[in-house]
Amino acid sequence: MTVAKPLPHESARLHVTGAARYTDDVPAPAGCLHLAFGLSEHAAGTLDALNLDAVRAAPGVIAVIGPDDLNPMPDCSPSLHDEPLLCDGTIHYAGQPLYIVVADSHLAARRAARLHEATVTEADPILTIEQALDAEAWFDGGPRVWGKGDLDAALARAPRRMDGTLEIGGQEHFYLEGQAALALPGEDGEMHVVTSTQHPTEIQHKVADALGVPMHAVRSEVRRMGGGFGGKESQGNALAIACAVAARLTGRACRMRYDRDDDFVVTGKRHDFRIGYEVGFDDAGRIHAVRFRHWVRCGWSQDLSLPVADRAMLHADNAYDIPAMEITSWRLRTNTQSATAFRGFGGPQGMVGIERVLDHVAHAVGRDPLEVRRLNYYPDAGRETGNAGETHYGQRVTDFCLGAMTDRLAETCDYASRREAVAAWNAANPHLKRGLALTPVKFGISFTLTHLNQAGALVHVYADGSIHLNHGGTEMGQGLHSKVSAVAAARFGCDPARVRITATDTGKVPNTSATAASSGADLNGMAVAKACDTIRDRMAKFLAAEHQTDAATVVFADDRVKVAGAEYGFEEAAAKVYAARVSLSSTGFYATPEISWDRQAGRGRPFYYFAYGASCSEVILDTRTGENRVLRTDILHDAGASLNPALDIGQIEGGYVQGMGWLTMEELVWDGAGRLRTHAPSTYKIPCASDAPPDFRVHLWEGANREETIYRSKAVGEPPFMHGISTFLALSDAVTACRDDYPALDAPATAERLWRTLRR
Ligand code: MTE
Ligand code: MOS
Repeated sequence: MTVAKPLPHESARLHVTGAARYTDDVPAPAGCLHLAFGLSEHAAGTLDALNLDAVRAAPGVIAVIGPDDLNPMPDCSPSLHDEPLLCDGTIHYAGQPLYIVVADSHLAARRAARLHEATVTEADPILTIEQALDAEAWFDGGPRVWGKGDLDAALARAPRRMDGTLEIGGQEHFYLEGQAALALPGEDGEMHVVTSTQHPTEIQHKVADALGVPMHAVRSEVRRMGGGFGGKESQGNALAIACAVAARLTGRACRMRYDRDDDFVVTGKRHDFRIGYEVGFDDAGRIHAVRFRHWVRCGWSQDLSLPVADRAMLHADNAYDIPAMEITSWRLRTNTQSATAFRGFGGPQGMVGIERVLDHVAHAVGRDPLEVRRLNYYPDAGRETGNAGETHYGQRVTDFCLGAMTDRLAETCDYASRREAVAAWNAANPHLKRGLALTPVKFGISFTLTHLNQAGALVHVYADGSIHLNHGGTEMGQGLHSKVSAVAAARFGCDPARVRITATDTGKVPNTSATAASSGADLNGMAVAKACDTIRDRMAKFLAAEHQTDAATVVFADDRVKVAGAEYGFEEAAAKVYAARVSLSSTGFYATPEISWDRQAGRGRPFYYFAYGASCSEVILDTRTGENRVLRTDILHDAGASLNPALDIGQIEGGYVQGMGWLTMEELVWDGAGRLRTHAPSTYKIPCASDAPPDFRVHLWEGANREETIYRSKAVGEPPFMHGISTFLALSDAVTACRDDYPALDAPATAERLWRTLRR
């Protein structure tokens, strides 16, 4: 069977030879125009006047579109109607688009976009959590509170209590391919947009709204992205809308791509959080109660901040069965880029909070953190025992397996003996300290907005036996198309080389959800399987009738079709079925069963299942400078019955390194005027190949999903990101070796922050 095989990525050859086409590589018709936004240098205030004369007069400029030229002003928001394409009077952040330059080249547009004169009445920007709270600048009408148990009573009864706070920085997506779009005007008001987006249907919808046409007049297409990581769920809207508006105005094709600096300055990033906690526990380290406070900096508009902050709340328990828990979440509005989706979608921030608490408690009771973690785990579920914990939002954890996974990982990574070796090293070395941490991940799979958990597919078998398919998911490097092709090949028992997936296209599969929440293969794999089964059953029915046998006895395997002793090549069978005038084309549709979620009450079953994993990282820290390295990382991750072990291990390795980068080296710095000072690789450090652990051991946990997902696989896109937490806590462990109190290290644990924490 083609599923479960470690086949290479469908575009691997194109990627490495440079032949893979990204949005900006799509050839445009003659006369194509190029766009750039002129950006606000101020973070807050009112735009009193905008003089664009010099912009208009600049070489190569064909047109300039200012706020007064757009009526009504198009909206770019994926949620509320709160993101005007161009500043309509109120300045919300430094980097906000003020106007659009349309020029005959990319460079001409960019050069002209610096020539405006803006007259601004400046206001004090709201930048910090304190400023936002003082100004009552928040979304959602105030804080959201979810929890379980009688928290105050449980805290009061607990033998010991502590509190603490933790700052967690944001993160720039740093997709290799920046944001890009191309709009091709058609006849009679039609618009075809090609965008680097995780959400083609959203682009179609927002462009249709901006042009004042029905969705049927807009076709949105994406072949692939050079990385999205959540940064292309909503952040491509502005470019696609601007291109469509300019294409409508000029009647010419229009394209736009952000320069890297603009991409940093204009688009949203991961939400930074401050997490406060009060924890009640006993001398063994058993946690009785935790109260969390999440302060979430959302930026100037709502974007996806509410569901992101919700997911942080939903992951505040991570792997731990805590009797009483309460989370209060403030979604703060600030004069900064509108924070958006980023791998894990708030889950990582929530998880770092509870992992910090576990570490702090272990330190307080003087036990090994791994023992304390084990003590607080949910019970491993067994079909036999019927064991299940219950989360603070009322979902039963019926598939917990971290007890067994942790045992396995602790054994294979020699946790106990390495713990001793680290202690011996630290006793002998005054300056270089080692640290070790083993942390679990439990990540909920499904969109919390229930209606998004649906997918469609369109499959054609041609008369020559080749198969062409489309589904609603987008390819951003994660290997979704490879997995879905393998599913189709498995349903037809045919050679995977027969299957081709072309660009995701709203004209082929409508009303799709963003490729997000790690659900791409779960949802689209299932929709494609259903479409294939419909065609296969029609083929079987026809061939069985011809051979006077039962359709159920027809076998599709080894690229052949076997029926009542006869055998056809797959293409021969397809040709016969076609000649008999039987349809070889079908749609397929899937909606995730069994989920339900009451967001107001914070109760229900938001997740179809959980994905699990555990990782152990060892680091070495130079206490004189704060410099550090990861020495070794071991990961055991649960991808269910993997659809493709090679791709899944790639996702785990990449996710871990990205998570480690977030918590240890990537740092966003805004100045007092709200300008992002880290807006290029010169000032913003992402991990590179040499930062990956030199000893890196990644294994898949062999277990099938208990739920009926596609071939019992599990989603794998986001969960491994949170293995980065073990690196952060290993650094914290190394700092602990230098002092008696708990170091309360903030993230990112850059060399500077480590140095300062060591001297606090
Ligand atoms: N892997 C690569 N190579 N590039 C990406 O942009 N995005 C991540 C993850 N893995 C991403 C990636 C994010 S944020 C998500 S939600 C999932 O892939 C989306 O794809 P899936 O649902 O098919 O797993
Ligand atoms: Mo992923 S943050 O859900 O795009």
